[in-house]
Amino acid sequence: MNTRPGEAPVNPRPGEAPVNPRPEETSVNSQAGIVPVNSRNLLTDNPELYEARFPDPDRLAGRWAEDCLRRYGSGPRVLDIGCGTGRDAEFLQRSGRVVTGADLSEAMLGYARVTHPGPEYVGADLTGFELGAGVFDAVVCLDSALLYCHTNDQLDGFLGSCRRALAPGGLLVAEMRNGGYFLGRTDLLDTPVVGGFTWQGTAYRSVTTLTVDRTAQLLRRVRNWTADDGSPPLQQRSAWRLLFPQELRYLLAAHGFEVLELHDGPGPRTEPPWREGELPGAGAGADADRLHLVARRRN
Ligand SMILES: C[S@@+](CC[C@H](N)C(=O)[O-])C[C@H]1O[C@@H](n2cnc3c(N)ncnc32)[C@H](O)[C@@H]1O
Repeated sequence: MNTRPGEAPVNPRPGEAPVNPRPEETSVNSQAGIVPVNSRNLLTDNPELYEARFPDPDRLAGRWAEDCLRRYGSGPRVLDIGCGTGRDAEFLQRSGRVVTGADLSEAMLGYARVTHPGPEYVGADLTGFELGAGVFDAVVCLDSALLYCHTNDQLDGFLGSCRRALAPGGLLVAEMRNGGYFLGRTDLLDTPVVGGFTWQGTAYRSVTTLTVDRTAQLLRRVRNWTADDGSPPLQQRSAWRLLFPQELRYLLAAHGFEVLELHDGPGPRTEPPWREGELPGAGAGADADRLHLVARRRN
């Protein structure tokens, strides 16, 4: 059962970080036709705050990705697309890989270069990027970054770019929400969820509502932030593609990928979380709220 409605659970004690918030709660895109009160993204614009809000001290996401890469004998050259603060990219680099971290947010890239050095960090849009042909042995895309591809064209752009960037036999490793979870379940939807945390003496409070846009096949989030430091309230709108497991398989096949794993866990954001060395359970399904993908570029 998912106990994290809206991915920002009610925090009974303001000032305490919510339990297990998920780091995908950032987007530098706002949806066409929707005008945010303020299009800044509190977390993407403040990477330090982002890491404080979504701590991953054991680098579980990076470890999980590295485990997938080892399991399938990946070569060393890795692209971490949607790398955010760079903490996963740095972990992979320290594991012996040669990593390029790519993100659309200049704030994230600047922070990554200083705070998580080692990888090369470059600006790129995951919905269509050109970083060289056949220059990576693996592309890693964590924390639902893939779901910032909202439209079919953007998904095609992402998968086409990954295919081009990968050497034949290269791997695509991704972790994201499972759109299929929302078929017949409403536990994460419609009810505003209050969250709060304190960072550097400022108390932040958020009220978050998630809705399903069935026409666009998007999970839309409206989050209203307030802070006790006198700053004006901020409304942020984000959205994630509701991508279904069979739809993802179809897209991967169309772009010349063979699916090696597609399952709902265990993974770095599941409850209980993945542990080092743990494999997907025999006959693992794709029913719970996270999807874990390993695919290989066909020649
Ligand atoms: C959930 S965060 C990544 C988290 C990262 N794994 C970490 O722990 O720091 C998602 C990232 O995707 C980036 N992003 C959003 N849309 C993007 C796009 N179209 N192209 C590239 N990056 C994008 C955001 O700037 C953000 O840094």
